[in-house]
Amino acid sequence: RSDLKATLLEINKIAAQYYYVQLKSERGAVAYDYLTDRGLSEETIKSFGLGFATKYSNDLYNYLKRKGYSEELIRQAGLINIDEKNGVYDKFWNRVMFPIMDANSRVIGFGGRVMGDAKPKYLNSPETAVFDKSRNLYGLNRARTSRKSYFLVCEGYMDVISLHQAGFTNAVASLGTALTSGHASLIKRYVSEVYLTYDSDDAGTRAALRAVPIMREAGIAAKVIRMDPYKDPDEFIKNLGAEEFEKRIENARNGFMFSLEILSKNYDMESPEEKTAFFQETAKRLIEFEDELERNNYIEAVAKAYRVNPDSLQKLVTKTAIKEG
Ligand code: UTP
Ligand code: MN
Ligand code: MN
Ligand code: MN
Ligand code: MN
Repeated sequence: RSDLKATLLEINKIAAQYYYVQLKSERGAVAYDYLTDRGLSEETIKSFGLGFATKYSNDLYNYLKRKGYSEELIRQAGLINIDEKNGVYDKFWNRVMFPIMDANSRVIGFGGRVMGDAKPKYLNSPETAVFDKSRNLYGLNRARTSRKSYFLVCEGYMDVISLHQAGFTNAVASLGTALTSGHASLIKRYVSEVYLTYDSDDAGTRAALRAVPIMREAGIAAKVIRMDPYKDPDEFIKNLGAEEFEKRIENARNGFMFSLEILSKNYDMESPEEKTAFFQETAKRLIEFEDELERNNYIEAVAKAYRVNPDSLQKLVTKTAIKEG
């Protein structure tokens, strides 16, 4: 690794320690209370290294300068912004800070949350020489040592932290971006199965639908867990507890079957015409399974779930495969 990368990691580590000290200081009390009000224990705050960027201007910048780092290096670490109007200023300001670590627990960037309703809710470090958002996952440094054969993949920092605190130490999240094939190959190094635990809103549903084929292409089986009637895993756990979450894991839907369920909502299944159109679209998706045994198993499952003759569906799939080449 180059000297630059080593230095940026060093700066990030010092920044994380600084933010943590601020959180524990008197002027961080408001942020500390915010986190404990959200149900995080002192132990959780410490083990995730959460911190606080104060509202005093250039607090961190000045601290890092005193430590001997140049403005240019601090900029390359993504911790300051520089523009003509305002000069140099701390990127993170009056926010609860979530250090983002790589698989080896080195701090590669930060997420910062406002304590209230201001926008943007989360501000994240830009990509830097050490921070590639599409090749890292929040919580992976901890999840990789959990003994589970699967990961829980969720949307947010708070989801990961709440899940870990509740004992689900195999939770990870993508970093304010959609899940990519880079994330999938990273996951594949550790597990061959994931449970997608996205938010209950439309954005979360769409994110799950997009993630299923990305996982499949990486050789990862995806199941989907729904968090209704709550917004996300954090709120679910807070309201219903770990045992109920465990039940959702047990009742997780197969990713492909979940996708079909969402698809079916676009069709009036009482209408023979629309039901046929639904099966034509379904057949197009079924031919994506290259393994014959796997495809046949899905054909059987679909036939059963949507009450159609399995042989007819089989024939439609064969016909579609020829037609689609
Ligand atoms: P959500 O809006 O679902 O937030 O965004 P959340 O994680 O539930 O946050 P809380 O519970 O209100 O604190 C999910 C994830 O999307 C990214 C963050 O990584 C966040 O955790 N995000 C969201 C951003 O990067 N920027 C934003 O402004 C909002
Ligand atoms: Mn990238
Ligand atoms: Mn959301
Ligand atoms: Mn959320
Ligand atoms: Mn949330």
